[in-house]
Amino acid sequence: MEQMPYQADTDRPDLRTAEEPAATPHPERTPAVVSTDWRQALPLLTGARVTLRELRRSDAPSLHAMLTTDEVARFINPPPTTVVGFEKFIAWTHRERAAGNYVCFGVVPEGSEHAIGLFQVRSLEPGFGTAEWGFILGASFWGSGLFETGARLVLDFAFDTLGVHRMEARAAVQNGRGNGALRKLGAVQEGILRRSFFRNGTYLDQLLWSILDEDWRQPTFPDRGEIFH
Ligand SMILES: CC(C)(COP(=O)(O)OP(=O)(O)OC[C@H]1O[C@@H](n2cnc3c(N)ncnc32)[C@H](O)[C@@H]1OP(=O)(O)O)[C@@H](O)C(=O)NCCC(=O)NCCS
Repeated sequence: MEQMPYQADTDRPDLRTAEEPAATPHPERTPAVVSTDWRQALPLLTGARVTLRELRRSDAPSLHAMLTTDEVARFINPPPTTVVGFEKFIAWTHRERAAGNYVCFGVVPEGSEHAIGLFQVRSLEPGFGTAEWGFILGASFWGSGLFETGARLVLDFAFDTLGVHRMEARAAVQNGRGNGALRKLGAVQEGILRRSFFRNGTYLDQLLWSILDEDWRQPTFPDRGEIFH
């Protein structure tokens, strides 16, 4: 949710986004996920001890409980503050996916029925060539391995199915876990976006990270923690 476009007051029919052409998948790779028209519905992505799937309205109470703590929300755009607010957010994710602008996967751990976190990807240009992603998990799942498993599934989906060429992420400099998570995936730190994120009355610097499709396809990738000057 760091730089993701959802705002509670945009959850209005008159502000819904028009349909755009579907992204063209990268021509050189066989998709690692089951092929689907993701604008109709997201596929299930399954990994060790976790499933990523489309959000359901019934996820709202769990997401509200997990994602609204101070610890979790400290360095991201403020999440909805009520269960109803999360229900509206979930409905918005479905509309934005149908419009071809954005996808949001709920993170469902093995043994649970409800999502305890999110992976979001939004297109920064028509057709998803350049995109931005963000991620958030309930604090009780930090350090559990769910992040890395889920992140790899989402990156495969983004590069293979959405047709992303360049995946960007932004994280406040003070967000040690967020930056550590990106670094361990092999994202390249490209620079500092000075005073680019307003949170709790202060403008924070953010690190800009990227992963390219050609990097992600290297058998030796990631090589953890590259910093590009
Ligand atoms: C970001 C988030 C999804 C990552 O999930 P996670 O389970 O905490 O991530 P992991 O534990 O797998 O990876 C974090 C890495 O950062 C490292 N790390 C933790 N604190 C750190 C710090 N202060 N400085 C540097 N690295 C740090 C961890 O050691 C870990 O690396 P390791 O696995 O090699 O030891 C989760 O922390 C979260 O939801 N945070 C709140 C929302 C948020 O900030 N989202 C990020 C927006 S960019």
